[in-house]
Amino acid sequence: MLLQVDDLRAGYGEMEILHGVSMALDDGELVTIIGPNGAGKSTLVKAIFGLIRPTGGRVQFRGKEITGAAPRDLVIMGLGYVPQTNNTFPTLSVLENLEMGAITRRISPIPTPWSGRSSSRTRSRMMKDAEIRRRATEAIAMFPNLQPKLRELAGTLSGGEQQMVALAKSMMLDPDVLLIDEPSAGLAPKLVDAVFSKIVEINDGGTGIVIVEQNAKKALAIADRGYVLETGRNRFTGTGESLLHNSDVGRLYLGGAA
Ligand SMILES: Nc1ncnc2c1ncn2[C@@H]1O[C@H](COP(=O)(O)OP(=O)(O)OP(=O)(O)O)[C@@H](O)[C@H]1O
Ligand SMILES: [Mg+2]
Repeated sequence: MLLQVDDLRAGYGEMEILHGVSMALDDGELVTIIGPNGAGKSTLVKAIFGLIRPTGGRVQFRGKEITGAAPRDLVIMGLGYVPQTNNTFPTLSVLENLEMGAITRRISPIPTPWSGRSSSRTRSRMMKDAEIRRRATEAIAMFPNLQPKLRELAGTLSGGEQQMVALAKSMMLDPDVLLIDEPSAGLAPKLVDAVFSKIVEINDGGTGIVIVEQNAKKALAIADRGYVLETGRNRFTGTGESLLHNSDVGRLYLGGAA
């Protein structure tokens, strides 16, 4: 199992939002998390990625407990995260965004506060500038539409292009698992399809993917498995296909009968 979440509880301050959520991602899988606004989908990925500290339950990555670990450590272990908003640096160029995507694994010529106490595994995952440039070339090859825009500021691109920059940037760290929060938010239907097909392509390349989506039908259609969350709890679980054709899921969450 790549990622396993058991009975996770988390929230903000005194307010518990996740009341014991479980999910799993197996090697090579693409898993979708759907549910109404406020169900706790973003909170779940934030709690997995160490942006908020779980108050109960457990998260494991390749069988190792990572509950509450810091994002920087998780990134080095192979976990990536594309947030729902503010997922690019708008005042940097597209190319600079890609380079920034690898910053947490860059071997700095200037000693950093943490460089003295990193483990050998951490050091072995660090990248020299030449490797960062090589990875940027690979990322651009995967997103050819970005090629002519490399010198443009990310903030001046269209919503769909910015989402592509965010995905390309996240690939700079060569993640084993990518957590993607609402990649289709605010995009026209044609662009939604383009972003989803890129995500499928990333998954075909061997990266396990968890996508949170409002666009539930399209997300379930590309998913191996899906989870429906409601008010911070698991409501339905099954293959993408079975959830798409489940009449309760259809009526409650997919805007009509399945
Ligand atoms: N930083 C925060 N501080 C306090 N409460 C928050 C914070 N972020 C989210 N919440 C609350 O947590 C609950 C779940 O929010 P969350 O963002 O996880 O929902 P979601 O399922 O991702 O919804 P959406 O589909 O709208 O993105 C909501 O009631 C929200 O108001
Ligand atoms: Mg959300």
